[in-house]
Amino acid sequence: MLKKIVNKKGILYEGPVWFKDTLYFVDILKGEVHTLRGDKHTWIKVGTYVSSLQPYKRGGLVVTADKGFYHVSEEGVKTIYEVKEWDNRNRFNDGKCDAMGRYWVGTMNLEEKYPTGALFVLDKGLILRKVLEGITISNGLAWNLDNTKMYYIDSPTKKVFEFAFNLSTGEIRDRKILVDLTRFQGVPDGMTIDSEGYLWVAIYGGGKVIRVSPKGEIVGEIKVPASHTTSVTFGGNDMRTLFITTANDEAEGGYVYAVETDIKGVESFECEF
Ligand code: BGC
Ligand code: CA
Repeated sequence: MLKKIVNKKGILYEGPVWFKDTLYFVDILKGEVHTLRGDKHTWIKVGTYVSSLQPYKRGGLVVTADKGFYHVSEEGVKTIYEVKEWDNRNRFNDGKCDAMGRYWVGTMNLEEKYPTGALFVLDKGLILRKVLEGITISNGLAWNLDNTKMYYIDSPTKKVFEFAFNLSTGEIRDRKILVDLTRFQGVPDGMTIDSEGYLWVAIYGGGKVIRVSPKGEIVGEIKVPASHTTSVTFGGNDMRTLFITTANDEAEGGYVYAVETDIKGVESFECEF
């Protein structure tokens, strides 16, 4: 049974992360970082377009917002890295750290129409690399369990791509289509991976989350009472709870939902620069 787990309606809840018994998520358009510990829900305004967050090895969170990466802790908000040559047609969108602690984050065209976006990675020594160009709405990111593949979504393509991934160098190559969702209503948005190596992909405009095998077969789906399903992550005491964020486009949109599953998720990585 799917349960609504927050009462405060957001505009664009996104980027859920489970870390140390706490669910974190953002409201991109309100610029807020939200924390849900037990049933205590708190939030703080951090900046504009707060697009993703991840736990930081040195404590606190790393947040992508505005034109950069910021450390958010009890001591406040400090700049880690700001992008010098920023393209004003874009804003940051989904981001996630890999097993080596690098922060991967994409940008999207503010009009959601033109391929002005890119995928970046912030590496050790605070070196920023642009790894993909010509992206329209950079979205979900995930790695397979042995870190030999990276999965990636540019939403308007309606595809989940698979790249060969080199964990030690952080390079991606050999793009392939894992699954083509052209026949589906909506577009793929955020995603996560479970302990069996299957992806869970939120379908924005489709009101559902689908489960995709490593061969690209759609093996299951969870219906959500809000059509703009934005992202997913596993958490809870036994890592079997799937948390689902949604956007505020109708009565039941703009909340976070939770559903118990039979399958365990995997822990998120901490970032380290
Ligand atoms: C973005 C939204 C966009 C949606 C669908 C989300 O990740 O934040 O602005 O409409 O993806 O592509
Ligand atoms: Ca997203």
